[in-house]
Amino acid sequence: VRCQSTEVDGPKTKRNLLDNASNLLTNLLNGGNLGSMPIADGAVSDLFGRPLFFALYDWFLEHGSVYKLAFGPKAFVVVSDPIVARYILRENALGYDKGVLADILEPIMGKGLIPADLDTWKQRRRVIAPGFHALYLEAMTKVFTDCSERSILKLEKLLGEGELQEDKTIELDMEAEFSSLALDIIGLGVFNYDFGSVTKESPVIKAVYGTLFEAEHRSTFYIPYWKVPLARWIVPRQRKFHSDLKVINDCLDGLIRNARETREEADVEKLQQRDYLNLKDASLLRFLVDMRGVDVDDRQLRDDLMTMLIAGHETTAAVLTWAVFLLAQNPSKMKKAQAEIDLVLGKGRPTFELLKGLKYIRLIVAETLRLFPQPPLLIRRALKLDTLPGGYNGDKNGYAIPAGTDIFISVYNLHRSPYFWENPQEFEPERFQVKKASEGIEGWDGFDPSRSPGALYPNEIVSDFSFLPFGGGPRKCVGDQFALMESTIALAMLLQKFDVELRGSPESVELVTGATIHTKGGLWCKLKRRSQVN
Ligand code: HEM
Repeated sequence: VRCQSTEVDGPKTKRNLLDNASNLLTNLLNGGNLGSMPIADGAVSDLFGRPLFFALYDWFLEHGSVYKLAFGPKAFVVVSDPIVARYILRENALGYDKGVLADILEPIMGKGLIPADLDTWKQRRRVIAPGFHALYLEAMTKVFTDCSERSILKLEKLLGEGELQEDKTIELDMEAEFSSLALDIIGLGVFNYDFGSVTKESPVIKAVYGTLFEAEHRSTFYIPYWKVPLARWIVPRQRKFHSDLKVINDCLDGLIRNARETREEADVEKLQQRDYLNLKDASLLRFLVDMRGVDVDDRQLRDDLMTMLIAGHETTAAVLTWAVFLLAQNPSKMKKAQAEIDLVLGKGRPTFELLKGLKYIRLIVAETLRLFPQPPLLIRRALKLDTLPGGYNGDKNGYAIPAGTDIFISVYNLHRSPYFWENPQEFEPERFQVKKASEGIEGWDGFDPSRSPGALYPNEIVSDFSFLPFGGGPRKCVGDQFALMESTIALAMLLQKFDVELRGSPESVELVTGATIHTKGGLWCKLKRRSQVN
């Protein structure tokens, strides 16, 4: 049964019992009012048959933007409010850790940024974040275009050549295509390794998918069955998982060894000024290994790479998948996007500079992330007693929460909140174009671009935490600009060449979710060459 983890069910030892009792007492003494928080009593049946975040949305409309979700003895606080989300993610970010998420991911990512303890996280974040500097991102546009071109060539080959083939249509699972594309990009961008998965299969690729599958399964199944003694030797799936992990680790270890052997040490500022466009290896690994004065062991580097491989792969593939899903249902918006592409790119390839002209495509990417945020829930656990601020439509006085409280910040609810978005369920990339206080909804002060000058995409700052596709605060995604540029380029290059339709009805595309929202059986589409390409 989901949500009934022995790990998160609360006190297991006398010490924990005492801690919890004392927290409760402190909470009461401090006037804590978790007791007055609305409660959604989850029936276990609510959790089956559809993704959890759908049920959380219905309860949000019923109980308000901060409520307690109780499954038997286990409770989660579900937050769907920008002020409360901003408080947890930014204002008191260090008062929370990743809780159950860290338990799930630690066996795979070790001390990588996502599950890392706070001390390790602080050290590594300081080193990794500068790696995503402007010249690196500019160099990455070439990786994005090269890899997208490889995908497009494959599709063109499937469509065949010559006049007779002009009206030919092919059917294929675009989710699988985007998954391969995103894997190739992340491999090259993060550790200069070409998986070549768009065109071939290999043991390393299979191992990556096996590991992703396991990570996915663990994040939908909150009982840490993988911690059962001997499970890794007895349970066949666990054995396979460990052998997959070994294949990837061996590959990463080889790449790290190689990078160390060719190390050219330099200060951060110097590294950020290298001639990235002409470097043979512009990868993040190169940057991390070459950085002067950072003492890091191979194990930590491997955890960092593994974390970025997993964090940056499925998420971006999902954005592309859902962008196509939404556009295919809105042919006029697809035409509008194609008109922009023809105007800005003609028959050419996107460049860093040309990205600025692809305004509508960028808004399509943002709107896709609004409707299908990846992941749909952010998970936190309070490290000590805390008091949440009052929200827009929850209790205006806020709630005190004891240490150990597990929190789901529902980005899905925030992004589809009827309190902050007009027609929240509709796909309207145009909505981001004009949002002024004068036109806003009561209680909502609108998007303010001056809060984030020069930002090419709407973000949590301009929206004051109503739109947080990459989280916010100190643990915000480090790869946000990488991912946004990658998605914009890949989508633009696809639409430059092809018209896309869904093979079946939109309703037949079933959603499933673990770390990301994806389809149950693939996004089957009909693809044909565009009839009028500039
Ligand atoms: C963290 C979303 C792509 C690396 C996060 C978080 C979100 C997110 C929401 C915050 C999680 C939290 O607060 O619990 C996305 C989406 C992506 C994407 C939607 C694609 C569209 C990438 C890429 C990379 C990456 C391409 C690396 C190249 C990371 C890392 C963290 C993170 C390392 C942890 C940051 C920290 O804790 O300091 N991502 N991400 N992500 N993301 Fe991304």
